[in-house]
Amino acid sequence: MKVDVILGLQWGDEGKGKIVDVFTPRYDVIARFQGGPNAGHTIEFDGKKFVLHTIPSGIFHPEKQNVIGNGVIIDPFILFQEVDSLLASNLNPIENLLVSRRAHLILPSHRLLDAAYEASKGADKIGSTLKGIGPAYTDKYSRVGLRVGNLNDSSFNSCYAYLKERHLEIVRQYKFDYINYLIDGLPFDEYEEAWLESVKRLKQFRFVDSEYYLNRCISDGKSVLAEGAQGTLLDIDFGSFPYVTSSNTITAGACAGLGIAPGQIGTVYGIFKAYCTRVGGGPFPTELHNEQGDHLRKAGHEFGSTTGRPRRCGWLDLPALNYAIMLNGVNKLIMMKADVMDSMESIRVCTSYEREGILSDKLPFDLGDEKIHPVYDTLPGWNSSSDGRMILEALPGNLVAYTNYIEQATGLPIEIISLGPDRTQTVFRKGEIKVSA
Ligand code: GDP
Ligand code: IMO
Ligand code: MG
Repeated sequence: MKVDVILGLQWGDEGKGKIVDVFTPRYDVIARFQGGPNAGHTIEFDGKKFVLHTIPSGIFHPEKQNVIGNGVIIDPFILFQEVDSLLASNLNPIENLLVSRRAHLILPSHRLLDAAYEASKGADKIGSTLKGIGPAYTDKYSRVGLRVGNLNDSSFNSCYAYLKERHLEIVRQYKFDYINYLIDGLPFDEYEEAWLESVKRLKQFRFVDSEYYLNRCISDGKSVLAEGAQGTLLDIDFGSFPYVTSSNTITAGACAGLGIAPGQIGTVYGIFKAYCTRVGGGPFPTELHNEQGDHLRKAGHEFGSTTGRPRRCGWLDLPALNYAIMLNGVNKLIMMKADVMDSMESIRVCTSYEREGILSDKLPFDLGDEKIHPVYDTLPGWNSSSDGRMILEALPGNLVAYTNYIEQATGLPIEIISLGPDRTQTVFRKGEIKVSA
């Protein structure tokens, strides 16, 4: 069978966690392919809410296998915070979670480096989640990082000590006061101690060569769903560089981050919000600096799942959406959080960018170019509650019209409209979702 992919088409937080959880009953294996604890994937059901950072969002179905792929970077301390919160809810992720031996580790000193680099950038800071993502991927690409498969090596401690010293040297060069810097509320030494304890606990997991495991699943006829983190506009190559994360968030990242050949990719589901949000720094052409933006933030509870920071809000951006669709080879769309726009009289959608009198529907190299101005279409809002209207026929007419408009502009079907954070608040527009054969 082929591997279906779910990934974000905007700046992250599109609702990937919710949809992966909704799709999980249809698949045998759920595999996360990139990113690390910078992600915050929210899942709500039966009045309970969970936020996952590293663990795939299929974990709430104990009979399904979850995999942390080689493209993911793991902070054992944060992973075990997640594990402990699941254990407290009578779920045991150690039983149905496999971890790739090739996944790299985020060290406590990577967190210091992240903080030192951000502090040195002043007003130009990226707005990183400060989880050590950039520095850990840097070590991977510098070919010095530690991997899960190294945990039992006799040289693990000396490699760790070498990397830590190398990192601290840089931190000192940056004149970063790491002695007084708190990592998740703890001074470095205490965090390091807790981290090393978590490293020991990590050995409880089953480590696998996940590329072999997943390819065997495919040839045995098992269905695999790949879960992305972040979003296409945060991709290291195609996002609004340098205001991006440090991995390939696109479909190609699923191939590299799981060891799956491109020909094995089945349906690519692209998830987008009915509007746009962004957390952290960087260009955002359709951002609203007015009460409509405030309204979206309030109605959509747009505060980061990982850092709690307020998310910037704005109108849907079609050039950006079509760019993301192109890069990912999206086959089907899923529109999230349409309910957040319930009380809006009218809705705007950016259809192109204008620069010095010239219109373009392409994303420019420099999205932050101040001469770029979004050009909008205005559509009527549905101005009525979608609450409880979980069947297609009951949806407000202008919500259906908005959906049809986006389908026309993208040339793709919107298969699902999500109208709330709970599993059940999901409208399947085109009938049952089919797993790729
Ligand atoms: P992810 O990172 O893509 O998994 O998304 P996040 O979990 O960071 O952010 C999405 C937020 O929106 C979470 O708080 C979800 O519970 C919530 N959410 C998901 N879908 C919907 C929806 O259709 N409507 C509303 N109102 N909230 C939603
Ligand atoms: P999920 O998977 C939204 C943003 C950060 C910052 C930039 C770089 O929940 O959608 P990093 O920590 O990677 O160095 O941060 O990327 N960012 C996210 N924004 N959702 C995420 O993940 C994000 N992961 C990173 O805010 O602007
Ligand atoms: Mg998130």
